[in-house]
Amino acid sequence: MKELLRIEELSVAFPGQQQEAKALDSVSFTVGEGEIVGLVGESGCGKSLTALTVMGLLPEKARATGSVRLEGRELLTLSETELCDVRGSQVSMIFQEPMTALNPLMRVGDQIAEAYRSHHNAFASEARQATLEMMRSVGLSRVEALYDEYPHRLSGGMKQRIVVAMALINRPALLIADEPTTALDVTIQLQILDLLRELQAKFSTSVLLITHNLGIVHKMCSRVIVMYAGYIVEEGATSEVLSKPLHPYTRRLLAAIPTVERQGKALYSIPGIVAPLEERQTGVCPFSQRCDRAFAPCFRGVPPLREVGDRKLRCLLPGGETDELSIIA
Ligand SMILES: Nc1ncnc2c1ncn2[C@@H]1O[C@H](COP(=O)(O)OP(=O)(O)O)[C@@H](O)[C@H]1O
Ligand code: SF4
Ligand SMILES: [Mg+2]
Repeated sequence: MKELLRIEELSVAFPGQQQEAKALDSVSFTVGEGEIVGLVGESGCGKSLTALTVMGLLPEKARATGSVRLEGRELLTLSETELCDVRGSQVSMIFQEPMTALNPLMRVGDQIAEAYRSHHNAFASEARQATLEMMRSVGLSRVEALYDEYPHRLSGGMKQRIVVAMALINRPALLIADEPTTALDVTIQLQILDLLRELQAKFSTSVLLITHNLGIVHKMCSRVIVMYAGYIVEEGATSEVLSKPLHPYTRRLLAAIPTVERQGKALYSIPGIVAPLEERQTGVCPFSQRCDRAFAPCFRGVPPLREVGDRKLRCLLPGGETDELSIIA
């Protein structure tokens, strides 16, 4: 598979009271052409910051180092004008809440058409035709009437379809979807996920799908990357990672999913929380404060991300008995 996105040793730091705090540390991964890769982890692990770095949308006070290459082109050193050119045409992003992407005062059709015209030297009539076609592709009907509606008149699912249309109208090579269905009802969630998969196949778009829901990863992604407190802790083929998780954090994430077998039992939740940025201990395994396998060497340095077979793992003592998971649950 040809490589589309290559992130190497990406770190993002924010100024702190005494010293900089790293919200991302040594993040490295790739996304292949036409691939759907899942990025998972609890809130605060650095998923959105990873996405915003690729989009060139980091907050001004954030300092990014390392390398982010899209089709071989370094993005971290681009000027704002060059980034504007890349955004929307080569890489685009959809967010959890459709209204963050939509202008409440503008007709939805015009918003898609404007996205088209910002990257095409097109007459209004051509942009309108492209918009109507894209609206049909995202499963909307009566598109001529819908073109003139304002966002507030649309349901949550329809609004997210409009956002998907805006994101894909210029056929970007990479779509980053940051919790794209979290704000939607379960049935609508499934429709939007099916739509994303259908469009990904139709346009051969690569997708980086950010979610805290491993069920969505199972349904959608061929490969999964697990993040914890700014670090990648495990990466591998979805089928392998979900059937035989090796990192203690991934094992606990999986144990926390409600399943039919666990119905009626108290739902396991991972003890503790991801420490806020300023309170993170540095120079130790990032998961050590919550890990029940931790032993002295885990506190002597950050374990490297090692290749273990087809898997990548940041742990000195990976694995554990499979039975352990049902005990945890
Ligand atoms: N603008 C910011 N200023 C300071 N810290 C930030 C900022 N944005 C994000 N962070 C911190 O970076 C960490 C990762 O955030 P984020 O990428 O949003 O996590 P996720 O998307 O996985 O929930 C969090 O600890 C968050 O508090
Ligand atoms: S390195 Fe140690 S503390 Fe960190 S996840 Fe592995 S066993 Fe747990
Ligand atoms: Mg986020």
